[in-house]
Amino acid sequence: MSRWSWFVVGMVIGVVALVAGGYGFVRAGGVSMETTARPLPFERQVAHLALRASIGNAAAVKDPLALDDDNMLAGAQIYKTHCAVCHGLPGQPPSVISQGMFPPPPQLLQPNAMVTDDPEGVTYWKVTHGIRLSGMPGFGRTLSETQRWQVTMFVGHADELAPAVKDELAREPARPAPAGSTPQ
Ligand code: HEC
Repeated sequence: MSRWSWFVVGMVIGVVALVAGGYGFVRAGGVSMETTARPLPFERQVAHLALRASIGNAAAVKDPLALDDDNMLAGAQIYKTHCAVCHGLPGQPPSVISQGMFPPPPQLLQPNAMVTDDPEGVTYWKVTHGIRLSGMPGFGRTLSETQRWQVTMFVGHADELAPAVKDELAREPARPAPAGSTPQ
């Protein structure tokens, strides 16, 4: 065999050994699926790299709705119904559900965790498509485009809520709604 053929054989053996080794590692329990397990080496970096690549240039997409109290109020209602169970409400501790999740859902209405620095196009992308394997649902098939922009507007301006919007958040306890229902 030529030197090249040996090289190719070596490469194939190397790749097979890598795949077999990876399989064996996962099979032996090397990758814990428990939510309380420590993150894997580079798990966060790989997830962020994949997320950034998926989001692409969504940051350039702008909210077509007017920033006004009506849209913010509608956004607050959607948030309470569909998001608060994971992302929390002002001044309240994270829900039992969110405390059991990995990755933990960011508490979007706590002063130190607001997403106001994410471009609105990116938030809209996440609300529409969700984030695979994280628990963040995609709402592209269940909320209308207008509703997704309203809730995007709401989380983007969560640090400057008008009194009426704050009252709305405080009014009723949040509860999940069946698919297709409109928030009341
Ligand atoms: C079942 C739980 C759950 C629900 C319900 C949920 N999310 Fe999430 N969300 C998550 C998790 C978990 C993450 C973190 C994903 C990650 O770290 O990659 C997340 C991430 C996000 C992010 C990105 C935050 C950041 O700092 O990057 C935004 C924005 C967001 N969610 C908005 C919403 C909105 C708006 C709704 C309601 C329409 C909603 N989510 C409903 C679990 C949830």
